[in-house]
Amino acid sequence: MAEGAAKAPPENGGGCDSGAGALERGVAPIKPQYLTTKEQFHEFLEAKSQEKPCRKTELDIRGKLYLAPLTTCGNLPFRRICKRFGADVTCGEMAVCTNLLQGQMSEWALLKRHQCEDVFGIQLEGAFPDTMTKCAELLNRTVEVDFVDINVGCPIDLVYKKGGGCALMNRLAKFQQIVRGMNQVLDVPLTVKIRTGVQERVNLAHRLLPELRDWGVALVTLHGRSREQRYTKLADWEYIAQCVKAASPMPLFGNGDILSFEDANHAMQTGVAGVMIARGALLKPWLFTEIKEQRHWDISSSERLDILRDFTNYGLEHWGSDTQGVEKTRRFLLQWLSFLCRYVPVGLLERLPQRINERPPYYLGRDYLETLMASQKADDWIRISEMLLGPVPPNFTFLPKHKANAYK
Ligand SMILES: Cc1cc2nc3c(=O)[nH]c(=O)nc-3n(C[C@H](O)[C@H](O)[C@H](O)COP(=O)(O)O)c2cc1C
Repeated sequence: MAEGAAKAPPENGGGCDSGAGALERGVAPIKPQYLTTKEQFHEFLEAKSQEKPCRKTELDIRGKLYLAPLTTCGNLPFRRICKRFGADVTCGEMAVCTNLLQGQMSEWALLKRHQCEDVFGIQLEGAFPDTMTKCAELLNRTVEVDFVDINVGCPIDLVYKKGGGCALMNRLAKFQQIVRGMNQVLDVPLTVKIRTGVQERVNLAHRLLPELRDWGVALVTLHGRSREQRYTKLADWEYIAQCVKAASPMPLFGNGDILSFEDANHAMQTGVAGVMIARGALLKPWLFTEIKEQRHWDISSSERLDILRDFTNYGLEHWGSDTQGVEKTRRFLLQWLSFLCRYVPVGLLERLPQRINERPPYYLGRDYLETLMASQKADDWIRISEMLLGPVPPNFTFLPKHKANAYK
């Protein structure tokens, strides 16, 4: 069980009104993780629907800065760094429902929350109403979170071909069953993250949003790009603005390409309830401070190294300080460095602000460390890791995992 995420079993056995409470009224306290057949699952839902309606907690994050869920990079040590710089809302890395239901420890570890994460959600991926509802029920009783998000933006083939991620945008009946099923068993609000659509010129979000609102979703985040587009073009904020109206009164968060306080201001002018930031936080986690203080921060290379040192300390605390923990911390640091090197120091820019899709020409930093931090070579990232964690083991190699490193 995920250490930081585990919660003491509620006295009535879990849920809003299951276990003992349900028994008193003659409703069998079925534990959904033991259900194996479809019939049992429907029986479970039927019994649940006879219970008193849950009093759901509320999620009011309008105007708050939301650090995006980030597979591999958005680990707990990285989120601690972002919290320090002013991220308001944080979310765990995407967890796969079937892996959670199988009890895979590495998947459960993704749900861990640090005490500094005062508004924290977890993100789930799945393609089927029964497994996702079962999983939500299990999590409802075992983890302490403020919201649960469904990843309906995931573009990767492995997920998409099974009908999960953004494939759900085209599987309305299943999508509805998933949302309604999960919402029914969760005591916390259910949120959804979507894209503009699957194909490049076929926008689906504006038609989907009123449905999601009617199915009971508390908040949606819209990443302003289609699956086909990936990161090749800029996010479509005009379309996000149209979608705000389609979603109303359900709050809509906008997501895509925010790398400066000006970007965040423009985004807020579309009427979105708030913004979610992904690569911007990886390139410069102090972006949250810049947005809150409405300024550009010409941070020095030594201040940046201090941030990396804090990350490694949090990493050793989280993954352990034995050889395995050190190497795990190093791998995650290197994944992060593969993004961090794209930051161009404010003092070196000809024109402010830096844009996320621009590839800077090769430049020399104002000191050796600044030049080293701008390097696009994995060998240089390894050298930075050695400054903080000591020499790498023999035959060590590193390849960045995420394609989002690509420029336009
Ligand atoms: C390294 C990396 C990992 C990501 N992992 C997830 C994830 O687990 N769940 C998710 O919904 N989106 C994930 N995304 C997508 C981002 O949350 C976000 O929607 C996208 O990067 C656009 O925002 P940006 O322009 O601010 O980067 C990931 C993006 C990156 C770069």
